Amino acid sequence: MDVDALLAEQRAYYRDGAAEYDRPYAEYEELQQLLTVVDDLPIAGDVLELACGTGQWTPLLAERARSVTAVDAAAEVLALARARTVSPKVRFLAADVFEWLPSRRYQTVFFAFWLSHVPPERLADFWRTVATALTPDGKAIFVDDGPATASEEHVLTNQPAPAVLRRLDDGSQYRIVKVFHDAGTLTDDLTALGWSSVHVRAVGRHVIGVAEPPARS
Ligand SMILES: C[S@@+](CC[C@H](N)C(=O)[O-])C[C@H]1O[C@@H](n2cnc3c(N)ncnc32)[C@H](O)[C@@H]1O
Repeated sequence: MDVDALLAEQRAYYRDGAAEYDRPYAEYEELQQLLTVVDDLPIAGDVLELACGTGQWTPLLAERARSVTAVDAAAEVLALARARTVSPKVRFLAADVFEWLPSRRYQTVFFAFWLSHVPPERLADFWRTVATALTPDGKAIFVDDGPATASEEHVLTNQPAPAVLRRLDDGSQYRIVKVFHDAGTLTDDLTALGWSSVHVRAVGRHVIGVAEPPARS
């Protein structure tokens, strides 16, 4: 199996599991607390949210932004995000983040629980896309699972990228990419790619990062 097949399975998992997606946000106080970090993050101007899912973060971003363009590959989660988000500042787009190229630049590019789903071999291209989407004074801001959350997952071996197995309520199983980045490695990787003012910190079992794009020549 190649990485493309794994990514297709990942998209299918979120399409088929859209109705179950919000459950952990309702059940775990840790996640409810995490959503409040938005207030302390430098969200500003026109915001691009990648892999917005059911829109858990989108209305919170909209409160701080001039506009939010929220992108996800799954129509099923976008429908839930649209229902949750009443703000006229928000526009939703169905697109594959690995294929889609932004037609304009944003002051903020935000992604929650997405970076861990990017295969290592696509990481440099992904960060290039994020840099291309940012104004020179813009910031990438991200939130994700840290290494401590790996113990809750069924980690798979012999996959084309680091992967875990997820199950939906009907018993169906899907492999998804899952890379448990730690703050130090992320900081080193982004710095090596030319990003500046890189600040990645652990918050509980999660990581939160803010970084400025490489200078354009
Ligand atoms: C873990 S969820 C994160 C959702 C939301 N950001 C949150 O924090 O609740 C990952 C999201 O990535 C989306 N996704 C998966 N593959 C994608 C792709 N290739 N392009 C865009 N979105 C994708 C899924 O549909 C899903 O909504």
